[in-house]
Amino acid sequence: MNKDIDTNRVIIFDTTLRDGEQSPGASMNLEEKLRIARVLEEMGVDVIEAGFPIASNGDFEAVREISKVVTESTVCGLSRATRGDIERAAEAIKPARRGRIHTFISTSPLHMKHKLQMEPDDVHAAVLDSVRHARRFTEDVEWSCEDGSRTEHDFLCRCVEAAIDAGAGTINIPDTVGYSVPDEFAGIIDMLRNRVPNIDKAIISVHCHNDLGLAVANSLAAVRAGARQVECTINGLGERAGNAAMEEIVMAFKTRPDHGPYFTTIRSENIMRASRLVSAVTGFVVQPNKAIVGANAFAHESGIHQDGMLKHAGTYEIMTPDSVGLTKSKLVLGKHSGRHAFREKLTELGYDLGDNALSDVFSRFKALADAKKEVFDEDVIALVDDAVFRVNDRVKLVSLAVECGTRKSKAAMELDVDGDVRGCESAGDGPVDSVFRCIKELFPTDARLQLYQVHAVTGGTDAQAEVTVRLEENGRTVNGQGADTDTVVASVRAYLNALNKLMVKREKTAPSALSA
Ligand code: KIV
Ligand code: ZN
Repeated sequence: MNKDIDTNRVIIFDTTLRDGEQSPGASMNLEEKLRIARVLEEMGVDVIEAGFPIASNGDFEAVREISKVVTESTVCGLSRATRGDIERAAEAIKPARRGRIHTFISTSPLHMKHKLQMEPDDVHAAVLDSVRHARRFTEDVEWSCEDGSRTEHDFLCRCVEAAIDAGAGTINIPDTVGYSVPDEFAGIIDMLRNRVPNIDKAIISVHCHNDLGLAVANSLAAVRAGARQVECTINGLGERAGNAAMEEIVMAFKTRPDHGPYFTTIRSENIMRASRLVSAVTGFVVQPNKAIVGANAFAHESGIHQDGMLKHAGTYEIMTPDSVGLTKSKLVLGKHSGRHAFREKLTELGYDLGDNALSDVFSRFKALADAKKEVFDEDVIALVDDAVFRVNDRVKLVSLAVECGTRKSKAAMELDVDGDVRGCESAGDGPVDSVFRCIKELFPTDARLQLYQVHAVTGGTDAQAEVTVRLEENGRTVNGQGADTDTVVASVRAYLNALNKLMVKREKTAPSALSA
């Protein structure tokens, strides 16, 4: 049971698909979760927390499908400390080559009294029962004390000891509300290692939220104190201010081996790819000055810095852009490039498309190469993301004409709805307003626009626009993406993508006290 506790390897437990998806507006559909899971596996993530199976049929299905396709990483399903939750998680991870059940219960006085309305002795009994029950389905059980950092130490020790006795191989200490500070949090890990008699039989894990901007610092301090699993997310996605950002944890260990002998087995060259994918799927733009993955993280603007960089990159650069997978924008292909070269480029970018999808994307590439003089890697990525994952769309754009300028804008649009082509004209405040009005007229729903965001894929006035549209209908939220050299066409594609997702989105009802 006592696996890596004495080594310096830090297990990376990614919870982008579970805690990350709990961020308001960050919901993902099955296809998107599968794509992210594959990228996480390719990066070498040890454990992928794929969802909370009891939360909804969609979550259950996602954990189950990910369990079927992911073979290198352990696939984990979250559950509260009840038998029903645990059995649902067990069912979802059943197909996994390596499956883990992660069961949690709150242990802080505040949570026990107000959220659970349980006495400490009953919580302690639930710890024993939940871990024992989970062990009936898998050998790999992780136990978490929700709000662990605000839990009384005596009680925390009692619960941790019970969880290990009952068979938990990983003990996770969350700073659920992002309240702790590094030396205090490290002190909790140190205290557990000194006081819990059977602690050497488990791996200590930490799960830090970023409410005070300390999630990564707290995680690193905990590792120095003896934790050997860090729970984190791509881009720091997660509840409220998010979770510890995986890219920052990984690169901190990699860049500062002099500070501690800790390491992860993450292939850091995949970081940018994962970051872009998560950002595109969720519509959560990465702030330009975000560490490691922000657009400016490796940009040197001032003359003094540029001069230093030219003399020696180490003057202002502590990591190389290559080490996180940031390659210079490459001019990839032109309008004379053939299908073979295009397929090779897709493989290099990590896409493996079937013949039909390839033909579709290739003809869109040809059209793009005609419209745009230079086609870069980023263009190809946007194009594939835009084209491939909407083959089953019920509503498709057939034609669009827009008039805009200093007078009121007008749009004429035709949509194909389940094979029936409908058309209309509409006026609005600007071209985007006009086209969105057309869509609402041709395909009425109660969906409300929550976010409209435009981003240029590359530089230049002929750059593709990548648009994100977030729609909300009866508590269900979806993000749609669209890319085109014409911003208005990209906007229509993004709106339709969101509408199509809304139609397939299953009811997602959160059971009470689900917050984690
Ligand atoms: O933040 C938290 O406490 C959690 C637990 C379920 C690990 O997400
Ligand atoms: Zn959390």
